[in-house]
Amino acid sequence: MTNGNSLDPWYDSYAQRTAGLSASEVRALFAVASRPEVVSLAGGMPYVSALPRELVTGSIDRVMTEDAAMALQYGGGQGLRSLREHIVDVMSLEGIRASAEDVVVTTGSQHALDLVTRLFIDPGDVVLAESPSYVGAIGVFRSYQAETVHVTTDEHGLVPEALREAIANLRTQGKRIKFLYTIPNFHNPAGVTMSRERRIEVLDICRSNGILVLEDNPYGLLWFDEPAPQAIRSIDDEGVVYLGSFSKTLAPGFRVGWALAPHAIREKLVLANESAVLAPNSFGQYVVNAYLDAADWKGQVDTFRGLYAERRDAMMAALGEFLPDLSWTKPNGGFFVWLTLPDSLDSKGMLPRAVKELVAYTPGTAFYADGRGGGNIRLSFCYPTPDQIRVGVKRLATVINDELELLETFGHSTRPSAVTESRSTVVAPPPNIS
Ligand SMILES: Cc1ncc(COP(=O)(O)O)c(C=O)c1O
Repeated sequence: MTNGNSLDPWYDSYAQRTAGLSASEVRALFAVASRPEVVSLAGGMPYVSALPRELVTGSIDRVMTEDAAMALQYGGGQGLRSLREHIVDVMSLEGIRASAEDVVVTTGSQHALDLVTRLFIDPGDVVLAESPSYVGAIGVFRSYQAETVHVTTDEHGLVPEALREAIANLRTQGKRIKFLYTIPNFHNPAGVTMSRERRIEVLDICRSNGILVLEDNPYGLLWFDEPAPQAIRSIDDEGVVYLGSFSKTLAPGFRVGWALAPHAIREKLVLANESAVLAPNSFGQYVVNAYLDAADWKGQVDTFRGLYAERRDAMMAALGEFLPDLSWTKPNGGFFVWLTLPDSLDSKGMLPRAVKELVAYTPGTAFYADGRGGGNIRLSFCYPTPDQIRVGVKRLATVINDELELLETFGHSTRPSAVTESRSTVVAPPPNIS
């Protein structure tokens, strides 16, 4: 053993790609934030208590009675055929026409993200992403040593002109752009949805530049006021890899998600899946398959939609009541609101004081690969009840107002500039925060 340090004797042995794998400095705070007296507006955990237990036990009983030998055994690397056929039906709700042949079942869509990145990224390659983007995806891209470049995003999603400019700039610098990662529906963390016109334009730009689109859509069926526009994959089946998941419409504990990919990519994904996990979770797949066979799963999705819509409304009302001078996004589905702080407040620096006031949120810095986000906060409304949301936002308003008072007294910004923020400090919070 050589050249370690007193904390980790293997320090010098790790592969370079692990440089991006550091624990979040806010992790300890989130441990405190999980205490019952703290209202957490930080986590992205689905409210699984709204899933009737008998729906799940019925499916498990059926699997153990009818398919135990297969469900307890290794399966194929592509996933259970009948589940893939159900997945094709699920995707048809968002306008996608596909064959079960082109679906690969994965250990949650997070694993699909990892596999696609593994297939396409060499160190130094560029991934384009919205601004901000999903913390779990940024972490995957970093672990394969990709450079994530954020593209300007507004309330209608990615801005096509900004995408064109980013591509041109990167090409001038000789960079290789491998794919565009986008969450078009009820974005995590921004809460916005890409308009139909933009979907067509963004796809067009990517197609004409030979850039693959990685469409990540775990929240699409959880709409509130009106359904989201049809999936980007519904417009093009050659240039898009589409990711889906049962984590939000059923439960994340099964860890069942999928990728739908053009044929050649699909073949490589199966091989990569086999090399990583041999086969996706057989038992989880059989239970989800039985659930989709026998339970009123669309009715259950409606139940979730109603529940989350009520919580979104509670959050909108509380923000309007307690923080009327700030601005925030108004999600038409999903779990998240993106709040913009008054100039000069720093979301990361303010978090310890918020936790002291018994409210937690995720600082915007978690959702950028380049140190930005200090002026934003992600608030989630999926897990706390409407009453808790109101209390949480009220506490947050107290923290923000106190910070502003401090600022008035001492008269300087608390926000570090993005350039002084080291890239390695922008690291993933624990999984229940994603
Ligand atoms: C945008 C996005 N993609 C992917 C995932 C991963 O989901 P899972 O692996 O549970 O399917 C999440 C989870 O929060 C997410 O928000």
